Amino acid sequence: MKFVRVGIVGAGQLGRMLALAGYPLGLRCLFLDRGADTPGAQVAPTLIGDLEDPKLLAELAAGSDVVTFDWENISGRALEPLESVAEIRPPRPALEVAQDRITEKALFSRLKIPVAEHAAIGTKQELTAATRKIGLPGVLKTRRLGYDGKGQFVLKDMSHIDAAWDAIGGAGLIYEKFQAFSRELSIVGARSADGKTVFYPLSANVHGGGILRYSVAPFANAQLERSARLYLKRVMNALAYVGVLAIEFFVVRGRLVANEMAPRVHNSGHWTIEGCVVSQFENHLRAICDLPLGSTRALGHTAMINFLGKMPDRDRLMAIEGLAFHDYGKQARPGRKLGHCTILKAGAREPDLALSHALKVIEWE
Ligand SMILES: Nc1ncnc2c1ncn2[C@@H]1O[C@H](COP(=O)(O)OP(=O)(O)OP(=O)(O)O)[C@@H](O)[C@H]1O
Ligand SMILES: [Mg+2]
Repeated sequence: MKFVRVGIVGAGQLGRMLALAGYPLGLRCLFLDRGADTPGAQVAPTLIGDLEDPKLLAELAAGSDVVTFDWENISGRALEPLESVAEIRPPRPALEVAQDRITEKALFSRLKIPVAEHAAIGTKQELTAATRKIGLPGVLKTRRLGYDGKGQFVLKDMSHIDAAWDAIGGAGLIYEKFQAFSRELSIVGARSADGKTVFYPLSANVHGGGILRYSVAPFANAQLERSARLYLKRVMNALAYVGVLAIEFFVVRGRLVANEMAPRVHNSGHWTIEGCVVSQFENHLRAICDLPLGSTRALGHTAMINFLGKMPDRDRLMAIEGLAFHDYGKQARPGRKLGHCTILKAGAREPDLALSHALKVIEWE
């Protein structure tokens, strides 16, 4: 095996699930993160310190054949020196594009992937002008470092401009036209260094307050699935991508509008652990370690529910037939992703019933 030692920048739940998927393959993961008790540090060795600390990044790369990411916002400047020491996968330009909502949308547009009408915003005057040109309602977002709906403000009319500016105003914003979507869907796929690609079935995602609450997959719609695969493949090929990549879409009047991409494993792909022959975590590792990509075939119908802010009653939940329970080992805090469960069923309507059953047990804080 060419690559055995995997360095992972960030040791959150995504890193933890990567490390867990790596054990059966004989891979050894090493994390870099700030704390000694992160979800990843509980399952694999960890270098402790700042994620952009040049010395620690160099140490991580020196101890790894390939370096990958649980957190994709490492600056290109911090990553560049590592490229001569270990393979960086996904490659640095892919991370850099995805770090900025403007460059990300520019790439989508260049690849003829529809996006919401938008404008880069640096001043309050530019915001006022954009609301006139693009219209209301709209969403003001930070271009960088947003996650779980943080750094966002929905503007319904002109009177909201001051409040939006007070909340997140400053340089480096984007104003997007609000999308009256019928659904949110996402696609997860993987690409190997020799250009092979695999795609998981679509997942239908329900958010609350900007945070993913639950997903149902596979979402069966042949036409939307074809478009989503085509778009994801275009992005992966354009970036000479290696690893798992996800794109989130809005469905607007029956067509896909790309919202954003994640150059890593994605929350809406957690269902693949129990729901597919090979999970997104294993396929990410297979891709970055030059192993053959695994089958993305769904084994049945799933619902995946996030535990947000507070852990649910384990005994009641784990008594549900077909339910798999995941605890990330984190301290509870409002809005924090603490774990998830996946319900795998054979029939298309069964997960819906199990979902409504499980949703009676789960409270989000
Ligand atoms: N232009 C828009 N129109 C309508 N809804 C939107 C728009 N932008 C964002 N949203 C809603 O807010 C959610 C979070 O937005 P987005 O994905 O851009 O942010 P994020 O903070 O990066 O989220 P995450 O990291 O959880 O995916 C979306 O899934 C959607 O429900
Ligand atoms: Mg999102």
